[in-house]
Amino acid sequence: MSELTAPTRLSAADFASRFPAHVGAARLFGEAFHADPHGLYRALRARHGGVAPVLLEGGLPAWIILGYREYHYVCSHPELFVRDSRLWNAWDLVSPDWPVLPMLIERDTVWWFEGAEHERRSEVLHDALGVVDRFELRGRCERIADRLIDDFVATGEADLISQFAEPMPILALAALLEIPSADVPDVARDMNATLDQGEDAQDAYLRMRATLGRLAARRRESPGFGVLSRLALSAAGLSDEALLDEFLTMFNFGHQAVGNWIGNTLRLMLCDPRFTTTLAGGRSSVAQAMEAVLWEDPPDQNISGRWVVRTSHISGQRVEAGDMLVLSVAAANADPQIRPAAAVGASGNQAHMAFGHGNHRCPYPAQEIGEVIARTAVEVLLDRLPDVTLAVAPEELVWRPAVWVRGLAALPVVFTPA
Ligand code: HEM
Repeated sequence: MSELTAPTRLSAADFASRFPAHVGAARLFGEAFHADPHGLYRALRARHGGVAPVLLEGGLPAWIILGYREYHYVCSHPELFVRDSRLWNAWDLVSPDWPVLPMLIERDTVWWFEGAEHERRSEVLHDALGVVDRFELRGRCERIADRLIDDFVATGEADLISQFAEPMPILALAALLEIPSADVPDVARDMNATLDQGEDAQDAYLRMRATLGRLAARRRESPGFGVLSRLALSAAGLSDEALLDEFLTMFNFGHQAVGNWIGNTLRLMLCDPRFTTTLAGGRSSVAQAMEAVLWEDPPDQNISGRWVVRTSHISGQRVEAGDMLVLSVAAANADPQIRPAAAVGASGNQAHMAFGHGNHRCPYPAQEIGEVIARTAVEVLLDRLPDVTLAVAPEELVWRPAVWVRGLAALPVVFTPA
């Protein structure tokens, strides 16, 4: 995997002999998928059950885990299904510019390991994130949200994604992770360029790594009291590379997921009759809308992924050693076996898969941090802009054409200027 050259072009016959179940499989990319992902999950479930063959961008084969029971099974058996993508039996088909590649490459983080090393890293992370005081964080988030709203409150209009939901978790996490405010604009710009996967993506990634590496080294020399210092001082003795990779993973995955949680919650509260009537009313509706989002529009809609250690069966479907599995959080949450009437709310029920399941589940302190940032952001916004409404019809809102995350491209609103 490390020596990627030009992709091997398999003839149709060779592809069919290596991946027979994937001949003519549905595409987990492209316009049809982006227009209606749930339509695709329903069709696949009707035809294949809880596990279906799909093609990723570039025609690469994978299995999508659609069923709640199957999702639970895969995540509960790390001896059979692991994060180590080096096992993949289709690496020879991957080209160096394949857009999914950055998500699959080996990293020296908790994200990657299994077994004893995963446990060790997980403890380090829990310990470091455990220094965060939720009340202090709430106050900090209120100030950040207020500052962001100050920048547009006089205009009477805003895009709540680019002007609020995106920068909010970047600024909050940057503070927790001890990124000095002078460095935040550059890091945020490079991180967005990396995620947009445009021409500058590779350079932006290297610049961001260099900046964060410098900050991590500085914390080793003169530690402070935040998460990065705690990581740097960890008794487990992380190498420089490991420290930087853990730092990057937390910042990267954390800010994207929280940003989409904020954006998707605001969309629901502005568009969905279950919440629009209570928008200016109780704060309890914020918590309910946030929970509904975790079921209906989870920030990580599909996860890449797990790899099959040895030939196994998942609900009767045979998967071969080295096959790639895509965990579909969105499909598992909507599985009719556990939610026969999806329209019925799941209030108070937190058995969704939005934070994953099993040993690689999102660490609890990370979930709590994300919840404080998202909830404070939404509450402050509704307090400051009590008459905020959508500036377009709900059906004109556009989701980002993304396979892995679920978030809006923009959320234009209007309100009384102040
Ligand atoms: C609040 C919104 C968040 C959501 C919806 C979310 C979602 C997830 C999910 C679904 C996974 C599991 C991936 C898998 O099964 O392979 C995960 C893992 C992870 N998340 Fe989160 N996350 C959130 C916030 C955060 C934050 C704020 C941080 C860091 C500060 C963070 C750090 C991590 C890490 C390090 C892992 C990997 C854990 C492991 O592999 O053992 N997450 N997250």
